[in-house]
This record gives sequence, structure tokens and C-alpha cells, in this order.
Amino acid sequence: MCGIIGYTGQTYLASKIVLDGLERLEYRGYDSAGLAILTNGEISVKRDSGKLRNIREGLESGLPSNHLAIGHTRWATHGRPTQDNAHPHKDNNSRIVLVHNGIIENYLQLKSTLLEKGHKFLSDTDTEIIVHLLAENEKHEASFKDAFFKTLGQLEGAWALSVVHVDYPDTIFIAKKNCPLLIGLTEDEGNFVSSDITAIIKYTRDVVYLEDHQAGMLTPGNLDLFDTKTKTQINYNVERVDWNPVMAEKNGYRHFMLKEIHEQPDVIRNTIGTNTNEEDGSVYLPDINMSNDDLLGIRKIIVVACGTAFYAGLVGKYLVEKLARVSVEMDLASEFRYRDPVLDKDTLVIAVTQSGETADTLAAINLAKERGCKTMAIVNVQGSSIARAVDGNIFIHAGPEIGVASTKAYMAMLVAFELFALYLANLKSTIEVAVAKQLIHELKVIPQKIEEVLKDKEDILKIAQKYTQYKSMLFLGRDLNFPTALEGALKLKEISYIHAEGYAAGEMKHGPIALVDRECPVVAVVTDSPVYEKVVSNIVEARSRDCRVLSIASKGDKEVQGFSDDVIKVPKVMDLLSPLLNVLPLQLFAYYVADLKGADVDQPRNLAKSVTVE
Ligand code: F6R
Repeated sequence: MCGIIGYTGQTYLASKIVLDGLERLEYRGYDSAGLAILTNGEISVKRDSGKLRNIREGLESGLPSNHLAIGHTRWATHGRPTQDNAHPHKDNNSRIVLVHNGIIENYLQLKSTLLEKGHKFLSDTDTEIIVHLLAENEKHEASFKDAFFKTLGQLEGAWALSVVHVDYPDTIFIAKKNCPLLIGLTEDEGNFVSSDITAIIKYTRDVVYLEDHQAGMLTPGNLDLFDTKTKTQINYNVERVDWNPVMAEKNGYRHFMLKEIHEQPDVIRNTIGTNTNEEDGSVYLPDINMSNDDLLGIRKIIVVACGTAFYAGLVGKYLVEKLARVSVEMDLASEFRYRDPVLDKDTLVIAVTQSGETADTLAAINLAKERGCKTMAIVNVQGSSIARAVDGNIFIHAGPEIGVASTKAYMAMLVAFELFALYLANLKSTIEVAVAKQLIHELKVIPQKIEEVLKDKEDILKIAQKYTQYKSMLFLGRDLNFPTALEGALKLKEISYIHAEGYAAGEMKHGPIALVDRECPVVAVVTDSPVYEKVVSNIVEARSRDCRVLSIASKGDKEVQGFSDDVIKVPKVMDLLSPLLNVLPLQLFAYYVADLKGADVDQPRNLAKSVTVE
């Protein structure tokens, strides 16, 4: 949710580095931001509520040059998004300052003890208790390091922390539990701490991913890491990230979302990589880390995910069941973790996640591991908590996704499921070689078909202009494109704030048809498929209630104009691959409607990328 960045080094541009990093982190939370610097034994804090672009000048002005700074961009959990609640938070003597991601669950109890001891609180946040607790513990411990470790032992909940103390002018104290935090190391240009690689990728690709219950000290030339439970120093691995800084820029597009929609052909190509063989229909999954016997022993698959990733999982369920004949259950990660699911060693639990840090999805995977299941992730961020927690991965190579509304990651997740379903089907001999070959061939052609639709995007813009005034819309799809309808509705509601429901077209008569009238258009996915006629009759039923109908149909469909007010045509494609192509016009439709309405497409209200708290 929130974003953290810190820098300690020789250059005296620390605050600029941190402010630039905050700009890259803003997609993690954007209701307030702030930074702290340390110069000549004094801490200066600047913070404010609002989006960074509106407050950056104020944060920057009057800051002396310095070589250590920490910064934070916030998505409010405890306490409204005000200036007082913005991070960093200081202790009452201005000796300690910190930024925090996560939630301190026992903060009320700790706060009442600290109030009795005379600490004065200036915010409504749970975070502020940490800085007071550090100050209190420092009075009784031999060193600040001891006070830091003692404090961590008293906290319950989740944290990624960066702390600065006036007596240690080049040190950032860092700690992690249940919230992502990584260190970026350079040879001689200083070191970085961040919640997210995109904030520091401009400076370094050499990173250390902190594990839970780790804490340490970062200086310009060194990183010392400790296990907070045993208090022993630990060794760490430095990993090389394969993203580059250009990937995290807008490259001339008006919004990251539009850029990411346009990146989808390459994302598909990169996710397929060299992992398929069209000549024999085989698939290679280099990081799946499960033997054929393991996979053949699976009796049930459960897919756990949230939001858009959940809808990608739903397409995955249809694909795996159709191709590999293994039963797949879908579970919202937030439900799975609390509902005592039936799990055993023959169950494979697959997490689907762009960030690899979604708190509920991570908790679901941990539960599956405790119960002895095999675990796998379809994940974008290599090195993320979920990627490291599971037995095996399928990495989706979408590159950094900055737009809060997920587009290219969804597309890549679908590709990963196509590959996985085919891999399993080949192993179980539930697919004919000719079909496998055709699937691979057509999958590889999808990027060109997507480029064709992108070329005609102005037509989608013109259609979108007719839909901006509506307050509610119903999205319909069936079979493999039921999840497409769900995803289309989610895209529209999250960025344009128009209420939208996604429904299986066949369910319409069981309730949602009551919503349909001239004020509630229907958006229907009605491309060539075995259920084409069924969807048509659902649309006709809706249309007889006077609603406007926008259809996503296949090129060459001559009937669709007869029951639609507007039509977006997509190239013909094998039914099994249709969700990849059909979601594209819905992403563009949502984008244009939102943009025409003047909404902040990349940073929709109340949302944040990566929901790292419950
Ligand atoms: C919607 C969206 C969210 C995410 C969800 C899961 O556009 O982006 O619904 O899909 O928060 O996030 P990840 O995939 O990072 O686990």
C-alpha cells in the first residue's frame, strides 16, 4: 500500500533522490507524502496531504543539502489523510524519525503505556507509537541498536520500517515483517532502501530482499542484517533484477495505463519466451520446480487471488479443466485464509498475483503450506514474498506495472494459464498433439491480433464518448468470457467510478435483468464461440428492455449489428484464446470513458497498487 524510500550516500542530493523515488512510488498510495533529512545533527521533516505533484514544491523548498534522507507516500489505514498523519513521524525530542508501511495491531495498548510515561502524540496513526517506543526504550538500553531490537520485539502486526537517529548520521535502521522491503546496493554511490524496486531501479539493479523478522543497519558502504528472533547476524544474497529504468517511464503516453495496454503484445511475447515448441506442441516451464510425478499426483487445484488476478485465475480454471481435466476451485484469498478449506498433500494451491505482495494472497499460500499442499505462483515480481514462498513459479514478464488498474499483468496471467494448462494436458495426455500445436501457433499470433485492435483504438474512443453519462452498466459474457465480463466491469468501475456489474450472461434472468432499462447499458462479449447463440439470446432479452447494447464481436459477424447499438470487432481467434483478445477493447473502453470524464486514470480514488495489509 504505502511506499518507502531511503538513501544514504556520499552525494549531497539525498532529498532529491528520495523525492524522485517517491514519484515512482506514488502508485502505492497517494493521499499524503513526506520526507526527513538529517543535517548537522538536526532532523528536518517536510510532509503534507495530497498528491505528490501538488505538494512536491513545498516538500522540496528550503531543504538544506544532505546525504541521508527517508521518504514515504501514504495510503491511509489508521487516521485520515491529513498533514499530521503523514509520515515521517518524529519522537518528542526530535532525535528519532521514521517511516512505516503496515499496521501495528497492538498500538492502542502500547499507546496507553506511553501516554502514562508522558509521551505526547501528534497524530492518529498507529505508526507514531513506534517512534515513541524507540525513544522510551533508548532510555533503558545500552545502545540505540538494542532499543531498536527491543522495540521490534514489542510490536505486533506488519511492518516495513526505515528509522533515522541523530547520533547515527549516516545510518538507516531497517526492519521487515509481513510487508515488502528491499535494499539496493551500489559500489560507491551510496545505498538505498525501498518498498519497491521501481523507486531505485534508476540507480541500481543489485538488491537484497529482506525476509520477515530481519532487521539491520544500512550505511553508504555497508549493510548489516540480523535475525530479530535470534539476534544473530546473517548472511544475505545480492540478486540482480532484470528490469531496466526505461520500463518504469511513461514514454510519451498520456497515462501509464495506456502505455501498459500498448505493451501487451510484447508482454505476451516475453511471457511465452522460448518456452513452447510449435513442432511437437510441448511447453517448458523453467521455474515450476515440480516433478512430473508431483503434478500427476494432483487431485485438485485451488486458485487463490484478489481482484483482477482472481479473474485471470477464473479464466485459468476454465482452461485447466477443459484441457487437463483436473478439477479447479477458485477462492478469493481473503476468504480462503479464514474459511478452513479442505486441503491435503494432493492439492496444488496456485497464487495469482502481479505484485507478489498482496497480504491476503500471501497468507493463503502460507496456510496452504502449513497444511502440506504443493504451492505455485503465477507472479510478475521476481523476488517478491509470494514468489519466494511457493514451491514453484511461472513468471509472467509483464515488467513494472505502474497504472493502478491492472492491464498487462492480467494479459500475461492469461498467457501463463494457457501454458500451464497445456503443460498439464500434455503430461496427462488429455489433449491431442494437433490441438496442442494449433494452440501454440495461435497463441504466438495473438500479439499481432492485439496490434490490429490497437490500430483501431480511435473507434473505441468514439464509442466511449456515448457512454460517459451513464451511472451504471452491466457486462455480460459466458464460458471462457464470463471472467472477461467481470474484468471489464472492474476496469470500468475502478477508474471511471461508474457502477458496473459483471455477470455470466445466463445468470441475467435470475436477477440482474431487473437493473436493465434505458439508463443501464449492456456491454456484451459475443465473439465466435460454442455459446455464441446463447449469448445472443441473452442480449436480445436485455435489449427488449430498451437498453443500449455495446457488443464485442468477431470480425465477419454479420448478425451482431442487428441486436447491438455499438459494436467493437476483434479478429477471429481460437475459442480457448478468446479471453486474451476480448479483454483488450474492454480495457480501452474503460480507459477512454474514465479519461473523458476527467478521472485520474493512473491513480483512482481510494485505491493503491499492492494491497500489503489486510
Ligand atoms: C485491479 C487491480 C487489483 C489487483 C489486486 C491483486 O485493476 O489491479 O484488483 O488485481 O489488488 O493484486 P496482485 O495481483 O498484485 O496480487
